[in-house]
Amino acid sequence: MDKLKEIDKESIKKAANLLVKAKNAIVLTGAGISTESGIPDFRGEGGIWEKYEPEIYGDIQAFLKDPSKFWQMAEDIAPTLFNAKPNPGHYSIAELEKMNIIKAVITQNIDELHQKAGTVIVYEVHGNINRFTCLGCRASYNKEQLLRKLKREKNLQPLCDFCAAPLKPSVVLFGENLPNFEKYMSIDLAKKADIMLIAGSSLMVAPICDLPLYTLRNGGKIIILNDEPTYLDKRAEIVINNKTGVVLPLILKKIKKIQANFESKTHN
Ligand code: APR
Repeated sequence: MDKLKEIDKESIKKAANLLVKAKNAIVLTGAGISTESGIPDFRGEGGIWEKYEPEIYGDIQAFLKDPSKFWQMAEDIAPTLFNAKPNPGHYSIAELEKMNIIKAVITQNIDELHQKAGTVIVYEVHGNINRFTCLGCRASYNKEQLLRKLKREKNLQPLCDFCAAPLKPSVVLFGENLPNFEKYMSIDLAKKADIMLIAGSSLMVAPICDLPLYTLRNGGKIIILNDEPTYLDKRAEIVINNKTGVVLPLILKKIKKIQANFESKTHN
């Protein structure tokens, strides 16, 4: 799929032109942007939910009944997650923010790779893996403290040092509400966006899969970059079915070329 088809080259040019003219472009990302950093996505080929049933491993009610299931999955994924590095897709988005081409990134990802790549305005609508809170006394542990606990206690299900209740990572599980600030800020940004670039998401999980509808409803346009079809493809201005790590750097390159041409014309 990495080979660029003629149609993709045209779409990349079109996407670059739309983004360079946009006044309020934002980016919505999903797990697909991090697969080229080695982190499996959820519903793509070999995704996490193929191996772990979300109802048992990713749901808040199941977690409260038996947290060890979640921690079993976490133990399998954590090393990849904690050691992952941003890929060219993340770095391209960070540069587009620096160039003021995009105003914000809304991400469903918990891996912090956008921040590691240098993006500053990131709204983590599904939380992140930075804090672990006690369900009993609300004590809060950071990643390093948790890893030390897991090493010391060898207990698959970390318990609070103070009240022995289970700890829960600050990620949003199915059945939980999204963090209010990130949720309402994302809706506001989507309403104001003239362009929403959606990269690496199957757009199958509410309420975030509805965000592009706010943009469309207010006359904005969406660009979908995903290696599989999504439910919104037919309403997208542009659909590019290819790898984010391949296409985003090419969009960035095209934008720089457009800006350089514009500058050389205005200076002559
Ligand atoms: N380039 C482009 N697309 C890719 C790439 C890639 N390198 N790798 C994977 N994809 C596509 C997959 O084909 C899939 O359509 O990215 C999409 C990822 O979709 P999901 O795995 O469903 O991830 P996401 O959309 O982020 O899921 C939303 O669901 O399980 C919950 O909380 C979890 O945040 C997650 C939410």
